[in-house]
Amino acid sequence: MNEDRNCQWRVARRPDGNVVAEDFQYTEEDIPRPGDGEFLLKTYYINLAPVMRMYMSGIAAAGETPLAIGDVIHGRAVAEVIASKHPDYEVGDYVQGQCGWQTYKVSRGTKQEKFRKLPDIGCSYSVALGSLGMTGFSAYFGLIDCGRPKKGDVVVVSGAAGGVGTHVVQIAKLLGCRVIGIAGGAAKCQLIKSLGCDVAIDYKDGDIAEHIEAACPDGIDLYFDNVGGETLQVCLENLAMHSRIVLCGSISEYLLDEPFGLTNYTRLRRTNSTMQGFFIYNHSDDFDRAERDMAAWLKSGRLRPAEHIFDGFENLPAALASLYDGSNHGIALVRIRRGPYDNRQQENR
Ligand SMILES: NC(=O)c1ccc[n+]([C@@H]2O[C@H](COP(=O)([O-])OP(=O)(O)OC[C@H]3O[C@@H](n4cnc5c(N)ncnc54)[C@H](OP(=O)(O)O)[C@@H]3O)[C@@H](O)[C@H]2O)c1
Repeated sequence: MNEDRNCQWRVARRPDGNVVAEDFQYTEEDIPRPGDGEFLLKTYYINLAPVMRMYMSGIAAAGETPLAIGDVIHGRAVAEVIASKHPDYEVGDYVQGQCGWQTYKVSRGTKQEKFRKLPDIGCSYSVALGSLGMTGFSAYFGLIDCGRPKKGDVVVVSGAAGGVGTHVVQIAKLLGCRVIGIAGGAAKCQLIKSLGCDVAIDYKDGDIAEHIEAACPDGIDLYFDNVGGETLQVCLENLAMHSRIVLCGSISEYLLDEPFGLTNYTRLRRTNSTMQGFFIYNHSDDFDRAERDMAAWLKSGRLRPAEHIFDGFENLPAALASLYDGSNHGIALVRIRRGPYDNRQQENR
């Protein structure tokens, strides 16, 4: 990375299957200067989300504008204000928001960019993209507001070792639920057990239906779905009375030409159950509540961020690919440069 230039990753071509190096174009430009009503941001962390492949495919997803070939890829980042001619942003402020895959950005602080100033909670500002960012907030609102967990509920979460999933596991545990996590491989199962899962199911080892039936003999009270497809189908067959399914994501279907085609949603009827989708930005008015609760859990040590940190701007493409080949353990982040509280080694913590 050239510190004296604005380094960027752009869409070179539409991905076919998982993203590969040829789908990305690296460019450099002069570092932009802020005009009146603008401020200049310097990027520290960028977080990776499965939706970024949709951006690259030209799909208008997650409220972002569709990308043309040659556009800078959308991505939320933690950044520092290093120059400002904007009344609401001062030099030295840290924000999280839509910066794109680049090392500097000039902004007017638009609604579309959804900037939030960072609270200083005495730890690496990477948490502003995890527990105190859209990933952690998705777990918070999806689980608490949509799933309405009660103490003693049997909660099943798929994608349990990922960014959203590791937060769902821990929040459900601290609310007194029995938590069954589903993840791919022994190492990920070990990770989610260390975060509090009562049972960890490796969906790549054996029959997922048999695993779920064995782990939930009295049925599932709440299923937090990050993957869709067969796992959702199996959970629908194992519902307890008045259970809730929260549709967060369906990553097992994102690379398919046709969606999975769920056929057994009528299983909701016999148990008076509900299935509810949610979109994180529909909860924007309530982000302060999530930030307050998550920060308190972090400070007390009841919530531990599981971060998979890729070092270096050049590793953004590989970090995005990790979400689709399953090699990320916890939330996938790229550290562009070290920030406050960030002077020690903290690989894959
Ligand atoms: N509704 C919303 O507003 C909202 C907001 C944020 C995220 N989301 C969704 O939430 C889900 C989790 O997002 P995240 O950012 O936390 O990503 P993530 O879980 O950190 O990363 C993706 C994980 O998905 C799993 N995976 C990949 N391909 C799979 C497949 N074919 N079948 C089953 N699992 C597969 C992999 O874990 P394994 O190794 O365990 O397979 C991978 O590590 C995604 O579906 C995302 O689209 C929705």
